[in-house]
Amino acid sequence: MTVSIVGTGYVGLTTGAVLAAAGNKVYCIDVDAKKIETIQSGKSHFYEPGLDKLIAEGIKSKKLIPTTRYRNAIPYSDIAIICVGTPSKGDGSVDLSYIYSAGISIHQYMKDELVIAQKSTVPVGTGRKLERILRNGNKSKKFNVVSCPEFLAEGSAVFDTLNMDRIVVGGDSEKAKQKMITLLESIDKFSSKINTKELTKYSTVYKNKVIYHNKTPFKDRVISVGLESAELIKVTANAFLTTKISFANSIARICDQTGADILEVMEGVGRDERIGKAFLYAGLGWGGGCFPKDTAGLIYHADEVGFDFKILKAVVDLNNSQVLYVIRKVHKILGADLEGKKISVLGLSFKPGTSDVRISPSIRLVNNLIRKGAKVTVYDPKALQEAKADIDGSVHYANNVDEAVKGSELAILATDWPELVDIDFKKLKKIFKRPNLLDARNKWDKEQAIKFGYKYFGIGR
Ligand code: UDX
Repeated sequence: MTVSIVGTGYVGLTTGAVLAAAGNKVYCIDVDAKKIETIQSGKSHFYEPGLDKLIAEGIKSKKLIPTTRYRNAIPYSDIAIICVGTPSKGDGSVDLSYIYSAGISIHQYMKDELVIAQKSTVPVGTGRKLERILRNGNKSKKFNVVSCPEFLAEGSAVFDTLNMDRIVVGGDSEKAKQKMITLLESIDKFSSKINTKELTKYSTVYKNKVIYHNKTPFKDRVISVGLESAELIKVTANAFLTTKISFANSIARICDQTGADILEVMEGVGRDERIGKAFLYAGLGWGGGCFPKDTAGLIYHADEVGFDFKILKAVVDLNNSQVLYVIRKVHKILGADLEGKKISVLGLSFKPGTSDVRISPSIRLVNNLIRKGAKVTVYDPKALQEAKADIDGSVHYANNVDEAVKGSELAILATDWPELVDIDFKKLKKIFKRPNLLDARNKWDKEQAIKFGYKYFGIGR
């Protein structure tokens, strides 16, 4: 098929590169000429494992065509997929202006019978409103709006796109939905022929057990629903995942007071298949480009339709207090006065496998420590440059873990990059001033750390 994708962020560019690899002709449209230029040169404008390779191949085979112009792409497309940003406004509501303007531009250049698929995460009712706006335009043009939410996670975006656990498609027209399903089936056919294991390194879900969903027949993973249901599936899934994490963070506080170990507790709880082990890791809290925006959006939208979403409000409140909870632990370890104390913060991105620092709990932690007068040294395998704009004050940017912990009184694991989890405790011990470890992701090996003479502190353990 020939497809146009509007927006070249994590969702748009990954989907585009994978669809091109699966044999489709894909136009990637973005108004930002610099991004288009980078893609044209065979690279991504953000770090995402495995993506550069697919882009380079797509550009070479001419299956992937980056462009700033709708008119060069839309008239030739069977499907147009909207993947533009939906930023949060100050009050929690979602700014949908990019969705509507993308829709209007698509409509302007479309020929007949276009499927307009909406992949950006939006409040329920957005697809219907988009449809109304476009129908009020040139009435002779035939199109159908479908919602096709995206469930990929950063750091494992390519793997997740190749390995879809479910294919949710919502809309009124069975024919339009089927066209979208057929397009996505091309990805599944392609992925069952290639080895995707190397792309699982940073997957939060598949840490211990890689599940290849394409072993289940494609048709059994398709969920065909109404337009509104599809939109609500996506925001509900994200809200539920944040609830799991905040729940784990709440139980961790009880563990801290009672001597229970959160990892043991959640192992016992998560083995219940009704609950499941994923997303029960207590730590510094959740951040990123999706969870904070989507929870705020759902709370706001629930309010608009007359429901006070108290559970979700509590989930967000708990998360907002998590960095301060960790700061309290820092005081317990180093005392009330942090002035001049050297603290190393390992990891700055909001999660491993990405250079994305949007709403990163780690950077909130760093800024808090700076305000308290600590001498902070930071290190991140990929996000050092990106973090600079968000760090409010002076810190030392280290080039590696050794440099980061040299002379330190406390090292904090703030983002669980595998290379920061698997550090050489024995070797590093000698270069600490005081060997204190605060494991704010509960990923360091506690027994090993203690064995090598560190004082170990976790979150709920
Ligand atoms: C999320 C959803 O997982 C994905 O399905 C959706 O399409 C977009 O939003 P993403 O934001 O990329 O993906 O990252 P995710 O792996 O979900 O992690 C989000 C945050 O939660 C990170 O800050 C992570 O550190 C934190 N987290 C995750 C925990 O603190 N504990 C956990 O057990 C899991």
